[in-house]
Amino acid sequence: MSSSEAEVVVARDLRQVYRISRGFLKPAEHLQAVGGVSFTLRAGKTLAVVGESGCGKSTLARMVSLIEKPTDGELCLNGVDVMSAAREARHALRRTVQLVFQNPYGSLNPRKKIGAILEVPLEINTDLSAVECAAQARAMLALVGLRPEHYDRYPHMFSGGQRQRIAIARALMLKPSLIVADEPVSALDVSIQAQVLNLLADLQQELGLAYLFISHDLGVVRHIAHDVLVMYLGHAVEQGEKKTIFAQPLHPYTQALLASTPGILGSGMARKHQVLKGELPSPLNPPSGCVFSTRCPNVTPRCHIERPVLRLLAGRQVACHEAEIFIQTAA
Ligand SMILES: Nc1ncnc2c1ncn2[C@@H]1O[C@H](COP(=O)(O)OP(=O)(O)OP(=O)(O)O)[C@@H](O)[C@H]1O
Ligand SMILES: [Mg+2]
Repeated sequence: MSSSEAEVVVARDLRQVYRISRGFLKPAEHLQAVGGVSFTLRAGKTLAVVGESGCGKSTLARMVSLIEKPTDGELCLNGVDVMSAAREARHALRRTVQLVFQNPYGSLNPRKKIGAILEVPLEINTDLSAVECAAQARAMLALVGLRPEHYDRYPHMFSGGQRQRIAIARALMLKPSLIVADEPVSALDVSIQAQVLNLLADLQQELGLAYLFISHDLGVVRHIAHDVLVMYLGHAVEQGEKKTIFAQPLHPYTQALLASTPGILGSGMARKHQVLKGELPSPLNPPSGCVFSTRCPNVTPRCHIERPVLRLLAGRQVACHEAEIFIQTAA
């Protein structure tokens, strides 16, 4: 297998359950934020995780980036089993996974110049001299499309798009194999979003990076993803290649998400699929049976009783008892 096909992340049945204390003498409640998610992400590829607020996207990101240990499941990063790895091995793995967040300003120290900000990871994790650190920081500025004179400027002197370039530069200083990006362009103007997405795509090509790209915006995902994982209330409801899923979504939730994003589905298909109605149920009290059953336009009695598991259908994984009807109607 060539290195461009290396498995950077292999996740099997990842689960995160939070214990929520309700105060003295009251029994704690348990909230399942992620209820068994599996995927493989290879070098040079982007997996987009999409879904409404609260569906578990950031929780999944925190598990994959080793910030939080999963309650259950298997997680391998670059072939190393994270769950059973010793402390030193976990520490070494941390360097290979870097994060980029929605709001870069919050994470850039306002009192440090950009050069110093980029050099911090090298100072902590390597034995490089000050001169070598500075040279690498300057090279990284060029790689992310910033100018040499930016080395001596402070974060407040930059625009939102430039700050996100700085955050990306900092994430790349330790040469990671995986970038976990949680809504990295959601706070930016649309024209700036495109520039940052282009930069991410160029860096991926050049460096063979794998991206776990969290977004609620399918318009953004369309430009950057190879694969898509659609989450609802902590569960994967549809996952597979972006082009397969965007061409013919088979889960009613994916259909509703795509139909509500202009310009993705053809107008005929968008009209056929209903826009999402109703409230998202509380994750503390999820519906029995299918998690989507309370909002699904195609719900049947079986859906209220039996939770559908992911199964292979028409080239992707989908968790819906009724998914076949959408293949027939699209034919
Ligand atoms: N530390 C925590 N303790 C308890 N509950 C949590 C914790 N972190 C997240 N949750 C809950 O887990 C669920 C998933 O949250 P998460 O932040 O992963 O969603 P998300 O998809 O990233 O949402 P958003 O789009 O708003 O960022 C939510 O119901 C949230 O309230
Ligand atoms: Mg989030």
